[in-house]
Amino acid sequence: MFRICSLVFVLAFPVAGFRQETSPATDEHQIAETSHVIMHKNPGCGCCDLWAEHMRSHGFTVESIEDPKIFAFKTERNIPGPLMSCHTALIDGYFVEGHVPANDILKLLREQPEHVTGIAVPGMPLGSPGMEHPRPQDFNTIALLTDGTAYVFESHKAGEKFSAPKTN
Ligand code: CU
Ligand code: CU
Repeated sequence: MFRICSLVFVLAFPVAGFRQETSPATDEHQIAETSHVIMHKNPGCGCCDLWAEHMRSHGFTVESIEDPKIFAFKTERNIPGPLMSCHTALIDGYFVEGHVPANDILKLLREQPEHVTGIAVPGMPLGSPGMEHPRPQDFNTIALLTDGTAYVFESHKAGEKFSAPKTN
């Protein structure tokens, strides 16, 4: 007796085995899924949790650590005062300070720019991910280099949307 399922298997197998070209979006998804984010936050700080949710919506795994000595944690990692914000995350050897958009972190992990130790959104700009507000501000994401200098890694205009692209 002829079995349809074995025919389907034979036809489908070569197609399934053929490796499709990966699009940048797929790469970014893989980067997010293989990167473990450890966020140190001040106990009771709510905006940190909202930022963690933003990261999770982009596919990252986020571990949240309540750290009453968060300031010491920042200084131990040589994060300069002017770059400081509420929470400090560690991702693949980089620090990520404050409400940095997930797409900037994906850019950092993809490009791995030379001598960069981490990126920061200093302070708590209104409208940044986790700081949603009806009156958003422009803000910059700053990259810090091993020699202590910094540069603008990415600029963001007030009202920019940071939500994850819809997956169908
Ligand atoms: Cu915050
Ligand atoms: Cu925070």
